[in-house]
Amino acid sequence: MRTQVAIIGAGPAGLLLGQLLHKAGIDNIIVERQSGDYVLGRIRAGILEQVTIDLVDEAGLGQRMHAEGLVHGGIELLFKGERHRIDLNGFTGGKNVMVYGQTELTRDLMEARAAADLQTVYSASQVAVHDFDSSQPRVTFEKDGQVHEIRCDFIAGCDGFHGVCRASVPEGAITEYEKVYPFGWLGLLSDTPPVSEELIYANTPRGFALCSQRSLTRSRYYLQVPLTDKVEAWSDDAFWAELSLRLDDEARERLVTGPSLEKSIAPLRSFVTEPLRFGRMFLAGDAGHIVPPTGAKGLNLAASDVKYLSTAFIEFYRERSEAGIDHYSQRCLSRIWKAERFSWWFTSLMHRFPETGEFGQKIQEAELDYLVGSAAASTALAENYVGLPIKA
Ligand code: APR
Ligand code: PHB
Repeated sequence: MRTQVAIIGAGPAGLLLGQLLHKAGIDNIIVERQSGDYVLGRIRAGILEQVTIDLVDEAGLGQRMHAEGLVHGGIELLFKGERHRIDLNGFTGGKNVMVYGQTELTRDLMEARAAADLQTVYSASQVAVHDFDSSQPRVTFEKDGQVHEIRCDFIAGCDGFHGVCRASVPEGAITEYEKVYPFGWLGLLSDTPPVSEELIYANTPRGFALCSQRSLTRSRYYLQVPLTDKVEAWSDDAFWAELSLRLDDEARERLVTGPSLEKSIAPLRSFVTEPLRFGRMFLAGDAGHIVPPTGAKGLNLAASDVKYLSTAFIEFYRERSEAGIDHYSQRCLSRIWKAERFSWWFTSLMHRFPETGEFGQKIQEAELDYLVGSAAASTALAENYVGLPIKA
């Protein structure tokens, strides 16, 4: 097989890149190791920055997002038993975020790709990347008992944190930065009405909690839990009881419980790979970086990587210019590190860290008091939460 860009991974990064390249007339094949249903079955994030919304519109896929997505102009911080609204819209001169599940975005992208009859290989095994330090990179994989080869101009590593692309880079050519947090997030999805109009981030003596949503009838909740916890040990009743203990009176009274549609525990990690380009292979999305979910940046960083990468490929094929691909890594990393900082800061502010002792606890409370009482501090939170501008 021959294509211009071989994309590894059919998550949001790979699918969005494939759609943008297709619209620009650039041939691409996506190779995904899971089935399409498996990819769609993953429950992930749900907050879109304007940069992501604009990119989905640019890909021509914004119709359902705008019809079903919920525009939010604020979030609430709950600590010491009180809720404080951060007016995202007011502090950023009118910017908002949109609540639209990653699963729905992935569905839109998958359906558009199938409708355009673009080549996507699902359930591929033994995926491997070759000769990406030459001008003739290759991808091989097994499917239905046969080994297949794709000759291409470029490889886009959109294969997530556990993918093969980053793992195929020679050790001396890559630097990895990592911080693992001493707790996980126990998430629950339910067809119950959200407990509040906007998201509630709670810092409580029992630990962090997040009240999020997917629609007016579907809610997503998270609890900070020890890394040693197993999801099997958490019944729905135990989850709802613990969540209630971490809410204020009003939210507790409004909470509607119900059977979980999905329940899982995810670890929290900050991770960045430098650089993101290795000859003719480029890392985008979780393949190159991971953020703790507190700041809702994972999907949005994948989108900004794809914005830079699709622009670079279009520049190469239309203008035979290598400026975009030469500057890809530097442009992405500038934005990635700012999002990593914000996600680390917000995680450090909102979670319980017993190892920091009483002094650490008092500092956390002082920072929260300062944050909600200072327009400057609230503006800093707001402009990072809605997403920093994407620089050319
Ligand atoms: N070969 C082919 N595909 C692979 C391989 C491989 N060796 N390894 C992983 N994949 C696939 C995975 O099955 C997955 O479908 O690559 C895809 C990577 O998708 P994501 O992990 O969703 O990463 P990305 O597209 O960058 O999206 C980032 O997803 O994980 C969330 O929180 C994250 O919201 C963020 C978003
Ligand atoms: C979610 O709805 O899954 C979500 C929302 C906000 C976050 C993290 C996750 O900060």
